[in-house]
Amino acid sequence: MLNFFLLPLALIPAVFCATAEQWRGRSIYQVIVDRYALPSGASTTSCDPGDQTWCGGTWNTIRENLDYIENAGFTAIWISPVSQNYEGPRTVYGDAYHGYWIADVTQLNDRFGSADDLKALSDELHRRGMYLMVDVVVNDVMATSTTPDLSTYYFKDESQYHPYCPIDWSNTTSEEDCWLGDTNVPLADLNTTNPSVVEGYTSWITPLVQQFNIDGLRIDAAKHVDKPFWPVFCGAAGVYCIGEVFDDNPANVAIYQGSDALDATLNYPMYGALVNAFAIPGQQNMSALTDMIALNKQLFKDTGLLGNFLEDQDVPRWGNLSVDVQSLYNAMIFTFMSDGIPIVYYGQEQGFHGASDPWNREPLWTSGYANSTAYQLVTTLNQFRNFLVNGTSGWLNSSMEVLTTTNIGIGIMKGDVVTILTNIGSPPQNSSVAVYTPWSRNTALTNILTCQQWQVGSNGTIEMQYTKGGEPAIFAPNTLLPGSGLCGFSSSVNLKSGSGSAQGAAASSAITGLKRPSTLMSAFVLLVLMLFGLFGTVA
Ligand SMILES: *[C@@H]1O[C@H](CO)[C@@H](O)[C@H](O)[C@H]1NC(C)=O
Ligand SMILES: *[C@@H]1O[C@H](CO)[C@@H](O)[C@H](O)[C@H]1NC(C)=O
Ligand SMILES: *[C@@H]1O[C@H](CO)[C@@H](O)[C@H](O)[C@H]1NC(C)=O
Ligand SMILES: *[C@@H]1O[C@H](CO)[C@@H](O)[C@H](O)[C@H]1NC(C)=O
Ligand SMILES: *[C@@H]1O[C@H](CO)[C@@H](O)[C@H](O)[C@H]1NC(C)=O
Ligand SMILES: *[C@@H]1O[C@H](CO)[C@@H](O)[C@H](O)[C@H]1NC(C)=O
Ligand SMILES: *[C@@H]1O[C@H](CO)[C@@H](O)[C@H](O)[C@H]1NC(C)=O
Ligand SMILES: *[C@@H]1O[C@H](CO)[C@@H](O)[C@H](O)[C@H]1NC(C)=O
Ligand SMILES: *[C@@H]1O[C@H](CO)[C@@H](O)[C@H](O)[C@H]1NC(C)=O
Repeated sequence: MLNFFLLPLALIPAVFCATAEQWRGRSIYQVIVDRYALPSGASTTSCDPGDQTWCGGTWNTIRENLDYIENAGFTAIWISPVSQNYEGPRTVYGDAYHGYWIADVTQLNDRFGSADDLKALSDELHRRGMYLMVDVVVNDVMATSTTPDLSTYYFKDESQYHPYCPIDWSNTTSEEDCWLGDTNVPLADLNTTNPSVVEGYTSWITPLVQQFNIDGLRIDAAKHVDKPFWPVFCGAAGVYCIGEVFDDNPANVAIYQGSDALDATLNYPMYGALVNAFAIPGQQNMSALTDMIALNKQLFKDTGLLGNFLEDQDVPRWGNLSVDVQSLYNAMIFTFMSDGIPIVYYGQEQGFHGASDPWNREPLWTSGYANSTAYQLVTTLNQFRNFLVNGTSGWLNSSMEVLTTTNIGIGIMKGDVVTILTNIGSPPQNSSVAVYTPWSRNTALTNILTCQQWQVGSNGTIEMQYTKGGEPAIFAPNTLLPGSGLCGFSSSVNLKSGSGSAQGAAASSAITGLKRPSTLMSAFVLLVLMLFGLFGTVA
């Protein structure tokens, strides 16, 4: 096998590194390496997340099981950190199975494979037209005391660290300079204003990105590092950087997006609003969502680059917060059809329902990688979004608008697509949401989730009736859909040929079975009659 590491750097093609602009249209599947898949033939050993130890997943087992991710239409994966982790005696929080307890950032974690294995994963992703995002931790290293032996780390000098102090969460300087973790597992905080630390990190990240053709970085604990560090570090990486700023106040998060900080952040404020709006039981506060949409537009420089999510390794599974599957479906659709890059945390598509760390890090193999209802929904959403990104113009860069909001529902429009969501859950209700669209009366629409045909009513109205339960709906004019491969519309055969690594991703959109369009619903005729009755005049 060709050993890439013997090649001079200049011969390694750099075409794979992807910019923020190239990530805008992507859709990301997030994986904890240890928990995604077992080696083929391995007995399905027990993997109790409560044990907080390794279960056997590797970079190779991800590579061997990429069909499951690609078939669902994802165009990128985000993997947990690849750096060497703590290997000492078990701590009160178990072992470093998750990858976030950095020992030497410059060494690969041999628990998860060799350099060749990581390169093979990267190559295979690129062969499929998919991107690789790697999680990086630079804020801290893992320790077992507040006076660790620094000689074991990449940075060995005391002056390269902040002196130990516990974080005062009401003090920004303290959040940056004091140590995350606790006295059981203190996370020794690097002084990222020290030039030797900046130089050490940049001279690590540049060759890492190049050697493994990494397309993007997810930055752990970004708000615990001084902001001026980020343009330098991400400039050295040369790829899209999306940071974790774990805070539900958009004013505190938005300051981390821009040329003075990062390309983007994970959208924790929107996550909080989605929980407030959709979780059952919960606040059921739709205006929390409408308000957050407005604040996002006002505060962030580019909402289209933010990461939209419902779950990750640090928050409880959606199914632990909300017991009704329709709440999952409605909220998940928001993450795909609004501004921003959708991110699905492995297992979300299988309805996992563990609580927060460590219960939200279940092994995926217990699901049997089933073609579940949620997996099929994700597949349809990716197929549709990938089509909107590449098969239409204007959708990706358009800014979402709220058309209508009520106590139980919201209608949003992005490009020429209207999404109507509700928080009532599965039980049927005698309630409805009327959404006023800019579409003219009688415009022929398809609900791409059911393939039902609709027509716009008087005054541009679409009225959702919830007599069969609170199902979400995504409407597109039939004139938009040829080439989508959805609901009996043709699939595009003339995929744009890509520059660089990425051509072929759109081909995955043809994988799902085509649904036949249903005939014009008689229910719809009733709807039109009802609208005439309700609204009287014809616009
Ligand atoms: C904030 O935290 C820093 C770092 O620990 C400390 O030096 C400073 O005194 C704190 N400021 C206040 C107002 O407590
Ligand atoms: C961090 O390092 C810089 C540069 O070496 C130094 O000026 C500063 O005092 C250090 N900060 C802390 C809190 O130790
Ligand atoms: C709903 O959320 C908004 C924040 O956007 C808040 O101002 C309002 O008080 C909340 N309503 C209820 C009933 O909790
Ligand atoms: C939430 O997670 C905990 C621990 O995993 C579990 O005991 C509990 O049943 C879960 N709740 C729901 C609603 O799934
Ligand atoms: C989207 O907007 C960005 C700037 O915000 C621009 O660089 C890019 O070319 C636009 N893409 C399309 C497809 O118009
Ligand atoms: C549903 O609500 C409408 C209008 O409020 C009412 O006329 C109708 O009887 C209700 N139907 C049921 C089944 O409750
Ligand atoms: C027509 O739509 C507008 C919003 O576009 C709405 O404010 C108005 O109430 C609607 N008129 C009727 C008669 O429903
Ligand atoms: C869109 O087309 C570009 C250029 O061919 C390609 O790189 C990318 O993978 C496609 N994106 C999607 C989401 O299919
Ligand atoms: C999942 O099931 C749906 C509906 O039966 C089918 O169309 C689709 O091809 C299946 N997907 C996979 C990957 O088997």
